Amino acid sequence: MVRLGVNIDHVATLREARKTFEPDPVSAAAAVEMAGADQVTIHLREDRRHIQNRDARLIREVAKTAMNLEMAATDEMQEIALALHPEVVTLVPEKREEVTTEGGLDLRSVGPKVADLVATIKQAGIKTSAFLAPDLDQINEAAHMQFDCVEVHTGQYANASSVAKAAEIRKIKDAAAAIRHLGMSAHAGHGLNYQNVPPIVQISEIEELNIGHSIIARAIFVGLEQAVRDMLRQMGRR
Ligand code: PXP
Repeated sequence: MVRLGVNIDHVATLREARKTFEPDPVSAAAAVEMAGADQVTIHLREDRRHIQNRDARLIREVAKTAMNLEMAATDEMQEIALALHPEVVTLVPEKREEVTTEGGLDLRSVGPKVADLVATIKQAGIKTSAFLAPDLDQINEAAHMQFDCVEVHTGQYANASSVAKAAEIRKIKDAAAAIRHLGMSAHAGHGLNYQNVPPIVQISEIEELNIGHSIIARAIFVGLEQAVRDMLRQMGRR
């Protein structure tokens, strides 16, 4: 069974478009759990363009499954993570100009500060995950830094033409096999939707998916709980 983490940042994006109180991502966290999601995923960006500190705090209280906090590897975020104590911290690259997280982390260029941050977070009893392209050098580096999990960036697969998709699936499968071989858990996410998720679920090494945009987009028409249930069905869960 592949676990589903639902990324609810877009609920906060809509609220921030009006700088008002609705829709509240805290209510979204409760709704996705009621529909059967295994985890609530949020990205607290340095520019606070969607999720705010208050959201992260309240979602921590509301989430009864697990909370996955995506964040940049900065001192400020480390302090917040230690105070919130989510089940998992996923380190992601962050550029202020980007529309969404465009690529994986480059662990070979981040330096010892990130290894220290991983050690500190782990010492506090929080699992650590690295968001990486399906690149074997990067995966080896993640094992070296003692990450617990790697989330494979599926954006290139999602954007590939139908001819190129098979090669992208092969890269993701090889990456997931290497992650497991090195003793880490294999997760995947980015750009996954109701159409392209079934081949990813077929990759037996993958244990967890984190999906946001497509579920929140469908929720506009069918409601959030139904959108989560539809995704679980596409994943072969019910
Ligand atoms: N996983 C990570 C690490 C992400 O940064 C994102 C995007 O915020 C997602 C998963 C979800 O991507 P999408 O919104 O395209 O489903």
